[in-house]
Amino acid sequence: MEVLRVQTIAHQSKEATIPSMFLRSETEQPGTTTVQGVKLEVPIIDFSNEDKAKLQHEIVEASKEWGMFQIVNHDIPNDVIKKLQSVGKEFFELPQEEKEVIAKPVGSDSMEGYGTKLQKEVNGKKGWVDHLFHIIWPTSSINYRFWPNKPASYREVNEEYGKCLRVVADKLFRTMSIGLGLEEHELKEAAGGDNLIHMLKINYYPPCPCPDLVLGVPPHTDMSFLTLLVPNDVQGLQASRHGQWYDVKYVPNALVIHVGDQMEIVSNGKYKAVLHRTTVNKDETRMSWPVFIEPPPEQEVGPHPKLVNVENPPKFKTKKYKDYAYCKLNKIPQ
Ligand code: SIN
Ligand code: FE2
Repeated sequence: MEVLRVQTIAHQSKEATIPSMFLRSETEQPGTTTVQGVKLEVPIIDFSNEDKAKLQHEIVEASKEWGMFQIVNHDIPNDVIKKLQSVGKEFFELPQEEKEVIAKPVGSDSMEGYGTKLQKEVNGKKGWVDHLFHIIWPTSSINYRFWPNKPASYREVNEEYGKCLRVVADKLFRTMSIGLGLEEHELKEAAGGDNLIHMLKINYYPPCPCPDLVLGVPPHTDMSFLTLLVPNDVQGLQASRHGQWYDVKYVPNALVIHVGDQMEIVSNGKYKAVLHRTTVNKDETRMSWPVFIEPPPEQEVGPHPKLVNVENPPKFKTKKYKDYAYCKLNKIPQ
């Protein structure tokens, strides 16, 4: 079955007309629902701060108050990020049939592969975006069938990025563990320890003739524990703050961190998952590289036993991640 990709539609939509399945109702259009003229300054945290107590405080406060922050001086070399972006871009610029070689198989229940969100949203609309998903860690879970083999350096570059990213993720887990009053290792252990899946997604948002009327990715919270994201320099990430939508300021060389649903659950609501969405650009292609750090499918996740007692009853059910994901994707109440 041939699937029409947004990238192909974008090529065909040179005039200001695009298929109506992309056009949002007025209550959703970014043009009318974004607070204009302000960039949301989500906390920007210096990850190399020698003052450990200060760093800890900033990460914990940002996770409680915002569910989103940006880290700078994170020790992932700039050239590693540049290469990650360049091989991803090269893949999406391949002729369509070469990308289809690693398309997500129709009917597969895994997310992995090149694709376009097939099912429409509840309101029947679609996002202006194509994507590629593949696991980058642990090695035992990797299926290289879904990794581009063009450009030739794709694998090496992504392995290098994955290695650097794990250092950052581990430090975040340790810091956030202490922030919950747990031992340094306990949060990651409860999350799945060394079995935690690192799922890379590349979002490819082609230029769109009417960016005020469409969304890239519709409003959502991530299902992961944490998401670590590299954007390109085209504005597009928005976060909801006190019920209003704002552009999140693009900070060169920063990693954007999202607190996801599993983190909110394991912390029994102390850390908050952030509601976010993306917009697209009239002239430029936006791309982003989120890595979702999520439990293996069979892992049970619930409020950490050390955080619940008579005064603090569990605010969430404990359930297998695969069951959580199934309910969320099918819009079944948890
Ligand atoms: C997402 O939340 O899935 C995408 C975020 C982004 O593209 O910045
Ligand atoms: Fe997201």
